[in-house]
Amino acid sequence: MSKKKVLVTKRVYPEAVEFLRGKFEVDYEGTNAGLTTEELIARSRGCQAVVSQLTDRLSADVIARLEGVQVIANVAVGYDNIDVPAATAAGIAVTNTPGVLTETTADFAFTLLMATARRIPEAHAFVHSGEWKTWLIDLLAGQDIYGATLGLVGLGRIGAAVARRARGFGMNIIYCDAQAAPAEVERELGAKRVEMAELLKTADFVSLHVPLTPETRHLIGAAELKQMKPTAVLINTARGPVVDEAALADALEQKTIWAAGLDVFEAEPKVCEKLLTLPNAVLAPHIASASVGTRRRMSMMAAENAAAALEGARPANLLNPEVCK
Ligand code: DGY
Repeated sequence: MSKKKVLVTKRVYPEAVEFLRGKFEVDYEGTNAGLTTEELIARSRGCQAVVSQLTDRLSADVIARLEGVQVIANVAVGYDNIDVPAATAAGIAVTNTPGVLTETTADFAFTLLMATARRIPEAHAFVHSGEWKTWLIDLLAGQDIYGATLGLVGLGRIGAAVARRARGFGMNIIYCDAQAAPAEVERELGAKRVEMAELLKTADFVSLHVPLTPETRHLIGAAELKQMKPTAVLINTARGPVVDEAALADALEQKTIWAAGLDVFEAEPKVCEKLLTLPNAVLAPHIASASVGTRRRMSMMAAENAAAALEGARPANLLNPEVCK
């Protein structure tokens, strides 16, 4: 019997490709650019699995053109790049990589919070510029983290991991989420559930930890930014379109809020021009989960999910169990 075939659309850590090669035929696009949509469709012909990345847009139209594909294994916990209902209708299993990146992403969200509050990029640039002449009472004065209120929008795995870090910094924690966390989790985290309006009004730091869905698109827009404190800091390590980037740039320019730390953007890798000019916007290129260990684990997890599906087992991280009856 001929081997099943897997398409890997873009460079991943090599052990994932080696693992797949041990079991299947592999068409590996080991480049940084990856495949265009048309290339992905063409190269998927004859493949039963596609190992995709968040830069691959697998819309309903694209999915309709994936002949014979049984599983799409995304190398990310987020899967807004894939039309899962369309995949389900086409009988294609979809998997993601939850859990392995929780702590790394929470580390980064907190790093971004601290760097933004204490103006680390500005301080670094200032020392390099040679403009540092003397100690000044208000030189690069930032916002306190200790004792401040952290408002978590979403208290899932990553939101809760950020809360644990915040507790160590003596922060008060409030959260809003469609679902209340179990009482013991609220107790452990010292987190109090509030309405979104109260969170926006009272939090010193607002950190976003929701997936991108039609409901969360532009969850933070001009109206929400207006409700925040003028000293507030917004942190986004979730997905860019959760925030209206143009409205945020205006708010930062007009100092309606104090600063923002952003790892994700609406049209990556493009960034709203105005944001690039603002010292109170601390920007990173979607690297919250980017530790070597975590990105290796994500690569392997996606490969294992693809392999499980091709071997007739239920992948550990299946998003649409309806397809595997
Ligand atoms: C994810 O996994 O969804 C992140 O955005 C990339 O690690």
